[in-house]
Amino acid sequence: MTEDLRARDLKHLWHPYTHTETFEAEPYLCIERGEGAYLYTTGGKALLDGIASWWCVAFGHGNPRLLKALHTQAGLLQQSILGNMAHPSAVLLAERLGRMCPGDLNYAYFASDGSSVTEAAMKMAVQYWAHQRRPEKTRFLSLEEGYHGDTFGAMGAGYISWFHAPYGSLVKPSLVAPTPFTPCNSGEPEEMAQALRAAEGLETLLKQHHQEIAAFIMEPLCQGAAGMRIYAPVYLQRARELCSQYEVLLIADEIAVGLGRTGALLACDIGDVAPDIVCLGKALTGGYLPMAVAVADQKIYDSFRTNGGERRVFFDGHTYCGNPITSALALEALNLIEEAQDSEALGARIAQLHAGIQALGAMPGVAYWKTLGMIGMFAIAEDAGGVAAARAISLHARELGLFVRPLGEVLYLWPPLNVTEDELAAMLRLLGQALASVCRT
Ligand SMILES: Cc1ncc(COP(=O)(O)O)c(C=O)c1O
Repeated sequence: MTEDLRARDLKHLWHPYTHTETFEAEPYLCIERGEGAYLYTTGGKALLDGIASWWCVAFGHGNPRLLKALHTQAGLLQQSILGNMAHPSAVLLAERLGRMCPGDLNYAYFASDGSSVTEAAMKMAVQYWAHQRRPEKTRFLSLEEGYHGDTFGAMGAGYISWFHAPYGSLVKPSLVAPTPFTPCNSGEPEEMAQALRAAEGLETLLKQHHQEIAAFIMEPLCQGAAGMRIYAPVYLQRARELCSQYEVLLIADEIAVGLGRTGALLACDIGDVAPDIVCLGKALTGGYLPMAVAVADQKIYDSFRTNGGERRVFFDGHTYCGNPITSALALEALNLIEEAQDSEALGARIAQLHAGIQALGAMPGVAYWKTLGMIGMFAIAEDAGGVAAARAISLHARELGLFVRPLGEVLYLWPPLNVTEDELAAMLRLLGQALASVCRT
């Protein structure tokens, strides 16, 4: 990065999740271009993108098929609204999503980003109960350390004190159920035991408060922002059973983990569970343009029909919702996702990531490790330096040619789904080298 560009950046650009003084004091990356699994800095340094640029670049940078879909649609129609109108790409995408999703999840509602779509899903849930003459059902239930975005409604459902404290008095907090996650290695018996304990805690809350709860919103199988907190699928099944029993809608926030990341199309598929609303985003457009979707089930959509003269409308809508270019991109991204799932390569990469993370998990300094499909994580033990050591490892990995960004004491890999065997091997090797250089004993 040239001194001139850095000076202009520090003068005008407000960076998200960035501590000003630390940022100003240290050298940082400036990325100019990407190709496949690699990012290239303005200085020409190549870095493997170990986190798919905040979990969305599912098929690598500069993917020719996504680029073609984008260009073709941009030349045809760049924008047209969906209020009382339609355009072919959005219709085809909605139909495709309806076919992909389990159960009666048939209606796709588009928004511009993940936070807006979780809010839309929450609004749908509240209005659904109002339509059932249950206006008292307006509260939400969420998981401890859940994350659903940074808008006010989303913050209420996923309140992280060190993120969101300044807005605390303006946020309507949800009821919080115990997390099904526990810090042990993947597959250890404690993982299942904790999931079952957490399900009991969920039942206690539902028993007490179901009359006032509109929906339980949760991240299936992995609480991403909290630190890739992977947990056992049995919790999903219990959550589905309990939500049905206590008449509470289940909103599965699969914005991060949906669309192939877990090895299944949806994380809910692994638990063989159909939520009432599923939220998708990030990988939906392969990291080209922002788009998210809430796919709602038939009963929720039907509840918005006029009833006894009462005219019902879902009052939500974003300028770019279901934009033709993002819709065309998403259609091609879904082709890529389904092809990846049918290929043997994805299964092989999942096994490779699992074996690699397991090996890193045995190295000094690691407290525990977990994998889920194409997500692999490990946590640095408190006595090995915890958060500070994880940060040092990530900085060292960058020097070695791997871009990773820790979540507290957790380091993780979230490679593109089409990463090659050699690229994944390099990611694991560089992360191991960085770990070994920081945690020596
Ligand atoms: C599970 C989950 N929900 C919602 C969001 C918010 O999405 P966005 O950043 O597109 O607003 C995120 C973002 O990381 C997420 O991981």
